[in-house]
Amino acid sequence: MSEKIDSLLQEDRRFPPSADFTANSIASPDLYERAAEDRLAFWADQARELLHWHTPFTQTLDWNNPPFARWFADGTLNVAYNCLDRHVIAGNGDRVAIHWEGEPGDTRTITYAQLTEEVKKAANALEALGIRHGDRVAIYLPMIPEAAVAMLACARIGAVHSVVFGGFSAESLRSRIEDAQAKLVITADGGWRKGKVFPLKDAVDAAVANDASHPATTVEHVLVVKRGDNDVEWVDGRDLWWHDVVAGASENHEAKPFEAENPLYILYTSGTTGKPKGILHTSGGYLTQCAFTHKYVFDLHPETDVFWCTADVGWVTGHSYVVYGPLANGATQLMYEGTPDTPHPGRWWELIEKYGVTILYTAPTAIRAFMKTGREYPQKFDLSSLRVLGSVGEPINPEAWIWYRDIIGGGKTPVVDTWWQTETGAIMVSALPGITSTKPGSTQVPIPGISVDVLDETGKRVGNGNGGLLVSTAPWPSMLRGIWGDPERFIETYWEKFDFEGSPNRRMYLAGDGARLDADGELWVLGRVDDVMNVSGHRLSTMEIESALVSHPIVAEAAVVGATDDTTGQAVVAFVILRAKQAEAQTAEEAEAILKVHVAEQIGAIARPKKIYIVTELPKTRSGKIMRRLLRDVAEGREVGDTTTLADTQVMQVITDKLK
Ligand code: PRX
Repeated sequence: MSEKIDSLLQEDRRFPPSADFTANSIASPDLYERAAEDRLAFWADQARELLHWHTPFTQTLDWNNPPFARWFADGTLNVAYNCLDRHVIAGNGDRVAIHWEGEPGDTRTITYAQLTEEVKKAANALEALGIRHGDRVAIYLPMIPEAAVAMLACARIGAVHSVVFGGFSAESLRSRIEDAQAKLVITADGGWRKGKVFPLKDAVDAAVANDASHPATTVEHVLVVKRGDNDVEWVDGRDLWWHDVVAGASENHEAKPFEAENPLYILYTSGTTGKPKGILHTSGGYLTQCAFTHKYVFDLHPETDVFWCTADVGWVTGHSYVVYGPLANGATQLMYEGTPDTPHPGRWWELIEKYGVTILYTAPTAIRAFMKTGREYPQKFDLSSLRVLGSVGEPINPEAWIWYRDIIGGGKTPVVDTWWQTETGAIMVSALPGITSTKPGSTQVPIPGISVDVLDETGKRVGNGNGGLLVSTAPWPSMLRGIWGDPERFIETYWEKFDFEGSPNRRMYLAGDGARLDADGELWVLGRVDDVMNVSGHRLSTMEIESALVSHPIVAEAAVVGATDDTTGQAVVAFVILRAKQAEAQTAEEAEAILKVHVAEQIGAIARPKKIYIVTELPKTRSGKIMRRLLRDVAEGREVGDTTTLADTQVMQVITDKLK
């Protein structure tokens, strides 16, 4: 592993921006200088330049009670007004906000004026349903414009949304509804995926069911968008059609200002325990950094660019770079409902040609999958409109980076690799395409106003050429403000490792990623250092999948690891001990099939293990901790490493013999 990394770090290809690009770039090197001179003044300037404040703020950062930061705290604003009304007032109502394309090929074009009107109606409809400032609304929708409308309608009235990815199961949805005590669920009958309608309303029905095994939830209403036209069950009084309630609502709605620290949303993400964390983001600081990064990292020219972020709104990338960043900046964007290979493997490239997409933001997993299917598909289409390419979600290997630049970007389009997390809210580390000489595989430098570092276990800076733990060394505007309902876990997870005694305001944020600084001091993110996996850019917890496995009656014990996978980055591999009776009753293949379905039901299809090994032992230390490192060796087909700390040193032999 480290040999591989060392050779990567000797990467000496550099791609400086072309003179043309730099001449028209909106970023200039003085951004870095201004930020370095006075970080807080820099962010205050950005907040004032990029957003409309109902009441201007006078204080930029309150860090007196770390790690609970308050940014722009005495200012007030309305997030939806910033994303909508002000663009219409500025005369840009006719600009397209969203070019939407459904998977079956149906389309909608929505201008800023139309989107504003739709959000006003939805805001009135939510208020009529009793949703008030501070109430939580769960959103479980496919990639249709109503997802953005629903989020912005919540923001407009000061309600807090919790978007749950449509691929999560009813069980996962229920636990998120319960944790946030949501009053309303906004969903659809179904959505299109891989040429078929997948049901969503059914999962909501199961998630809010009140029966012998499930207590009543706090949900009062379920608002349903008609999309899939599939049959749905209906509970009178509880269930309402979006087209009845929203279409009939008034299009007059005044956007009231809220405090900058008003909660905007909760987004659940996997941690190192079985229970997902509800990451809390607030308004003014979050929107500032989303708008800033969207503008400068992608060199946005809102009058001419067509931006396309391929992420689903169910993930943070969809929050920050489908909804809040692009709309705050008055950008025109493409939103696509379906999968990249439906109905043909060139669908994405066809869409880029059709809509003249200029900026594409996607994940390395997608790029690697396209590499596998072959360059002949992108080469059938005219991709010459593209001028910036972005990558996010997992490390991008130099080979994929070069393919992206050459095959998709015609050998001339800058590629920016952006590092950030659900917790950071917006991009933290990335090249700026008009300024930075890009370097394949490296995420490079913190954006202006952000400071990160790499520390060793004792908190010392490792310096160039070395690896360690990635930290953020100063608070940033879009930082998470907490874990919903669990301030202790917030402190323990992120802020305690490098807590400088006697100087609590020097606490550093622990990202949970391993990273190295190369000889130029540029950053290479290597992946998680905790029990979190990254499968196709989606975060999954080993513990969460282990809990799902042991909840099945045939399972006695389970251990899950993320094994390196050529396409998806990592893949879920499970090692399971069956209960004695089951071990006789079922073949290993049968047990594997049953358990794969079970995990998909418990968490969602994204968590379904690629491989489940039925074993009779698991490697444990004397204190009973499972040594996942050794299981990873097995899953990746390597020689098993040092086993001397095992309670029973023969165990790995038993496992490997059995799997031969
Ligand atoms: O391990 C890092 C990886 O994705 C994690 C964050 O996942 P999530 O909160 O789901 O947000 C994904 C989208 C921002 C990080 O801890 N990661 C994200 N971007 C990169 C990355 N790893 C390497 N390079 C990146 N550019």
